[in-house]
Amino acid sequence: MNIIEAKNLLYNYKKYNGDNIADTLISAIHDLNIQIEQGSFVTIAGENGSGKSTFAKMIVALLFPTSGALYLDGKKIEKESVPWNLCESAGIVFQNPDNQIISSIVEEDVGFGPENLGIPSKEILERVCNSLKDVGMLEYRYCSPNQLSGGQKQKIAIAGVLAMQPKCIILDEPTAMLDPQGRAQVIQTIRDLNKTKGITIVLITHYMEEAVCSDKVYVMHKGAIVLSGPPDELFERTDDIEQYGLEVPQVTLLANKLKEAGLPIGKGIITEEQLINEIMQKAEQCLCRH
Ligand SMILES: Nc1ncnc2c1ncn2[C@@H]1O[C@H](COP(=O)(O)OP(=O)(O)OP(=O)(O)O)[C@@H](O)[C@H]1O
Ligand SMILES: [Mg+2]
Repeated sequence: MNIIEAKNLLYNYKKYNGDNIADTLISAIHDLNIQIEQGSFVTIAGENGSGKSTFAKMIVALLFPTSGALYLDGKKIEKESVPWNLCESAGIVFQNPDNQIISSIVEEDVGFGPENLGIPSKEILERVCNSLKDVGMLEYRYCSPNQLSGGQKQKIAIAGVLAMQPKCIILDEPTAMLDPQGRAQVIQTIRDLNKTKGITIVLITHYMEEAVCSDKVYVMHKGAIVLSGPPDELFERTDDIEQYGLEVPQVTLLANKLKEAGLPIGKGIITEEQLINEIMQKAEQCLCRH
């Protein structure tokens, strides 16, 4: 089943002049077609201005299609009829954790969403506990978010979305403002949520290294999907990816260089571990021969 489906989707921003009259249209999404299967982990990458954030906002009904159709969890996203329980289908995490945390105590912040849904207090407490546990932050429940690192704050923002028990979480460049350690923590957390809870993950990122753990990578350009495939197959197409302003992971570049230099390295190398194994195997074969 598809949790997200877009058909010939279009979105135009209106630019207003001094008299508050919309005189220009900016085409942000242009004939976008995509199907995202429930339970999958997908990455959407694309250069600045390619329409990633606009699409993310459309999925959670913060923006509505200019034309075409967008379905979330089988329901059409339309301005006239936003499902009241949309947050049980999808939640979104943005780039800057400071803009998403609204309470001065972690557990209150995580419970804010369910409280607004009118969920009974006992269940809110349970949800808060479980969500904080799921992101490995339960011990910080009584802390102030101000005392946390960027990565920890982002995990609190994820817990806040989790407390709504959504089928799908969209993360719009959640690691862009984090140090390498924070980035690794956030990526590990969303990987675990996908693997252990079957939550669909839509990760929007500029870092192709983060895409290696996804089932499928989509590349956006000028508001449309221009490339897609499993990461190991897609990253083989270095030239195509670079054409759209992106870079394949460093380790894939290194594997390509080693191949060019004459080492018989196999295809689809996207992690350091794979490259090490490949080199070790070839070295062992070489030693056996001599
Ligand atoms: N509020 C807005 N009003 C007018 N135009 C906008 C608005 N937000 C985005 N745009 C334009 O829409 C296009 C798509 O922008 P969007 O933010 O969706 O891209 P993005 O892929 O998320 O970029 P980035 O990688 O920089 O976050 C760009 O041309 C952008 O300038
Ligand atoms: Mg963006």
